[in-house]
Amino acid sequence: MTQNTSTAVMARRTEPLDSFDDFPTPPWAGRALVEHVLRPMGVVPEECSCWEPAANRGFLVKALEESFSSVLASDIHDYGAGYPTHDFLKGATWGLSDHCWIITNPPFRLAEDFTYAGLEIATKGVAMLARTSFLEGKSRYKNLFAVNPPTVVATFVERLSLYKGRVADGGNSATSYSWFVWDSKDTEPGYKGRWIPPCRKELEREGDYDQTCQILIRKKSKDGTGGQKWINVPGDYTSVGLFQISPFEIFEQDVPAGYTMVDYRKVRT
Ligand SMILES: C[S@@+](CC[C@H](N)C(=O)[O-])C[C@H]1O[C@@H](n2cnc3c(N)ncnc32)[C@H](O)[C@@H]1O
Repeated sequence: MTQNTSTAVMARRTEPLDSFDDFPTPPWAGRALVEHVLRPMGVVPEECSCWEPAANRGFLVKALEESFSSVLASDIHDYGAGYPTHDFLKGATWGLSDHCWIITNPPFRLAEDFTYAGLEIATKGVAMLARTSFLEGKSRYKNLFAVNPPTVVATFVERLSLYKGRVADGGNSATSYSWFVWDSKDTEPGYKGRWIPPCRKELEREGDYDQTCQILIRKKSKDGTGGQKWINVPGDYTSVGLFQISPFEIFEQDVPAGYTMVDYRKVRT
């Protein structure tokens, strides 16, 4: 049996406990929520507003803005996308007037707390993107699922690849993700399991993964005379260098074997 060691998976596994969980959501995952989960449930996003309270660099926001009548975005940290900073778990009603839906990809460690906060304030519903294993756990069952089961848990049939600090095309993740949705109009107790059919290619749009960064890599050699060159890497022009995570950490996964990273730069495409 071969082990899956893709960067998308390994990055997730090594995430420290106190991190913000900086793993942006590829926009197609948000479009999949709208087209394959919410609309089939009878939700008309064009008639609803929503709040993305862990908006990061706005990749999920971008997808939600295509259908929802308005989208409020905030995050505990400023990633350079221009959103207000706000801790969703402290004073969750901030900025909320009639924001019907709370939709986000919360930090995994705090997914349960985000769900409680969302359920308390959303007027129409809550949708959380989480690992499918979020369904498991004795205390989560007792405190959340047995008391307030989601209306729908929709599992991605295709694997969704999340990367630290950026979105990237393709990937080979070993982690299964699902949208956990609570609809206030739900009248049938107990959750309904659904599949999100293969839809990545159909829901990806030009510009979703713009290449905007380059890294300088140097061939490792004993005498230090190895050649160096710039290579393109997926990255977010606005955020690199603006926040607590070093670009060296973000781009580590792109450095080919036998090379070390010595510099990075932002480029426009
Ligand atoms: C998995 S990422 C979310 C990605 C984002 N939803 C997207 O779609 O690209 C988790 C985000 O939660 C934010 N976060 C962590 N704790 C938070 C808190 N207490 N309140 C608000 N945001 C928080 C992090 O800064 C990070 O951007």
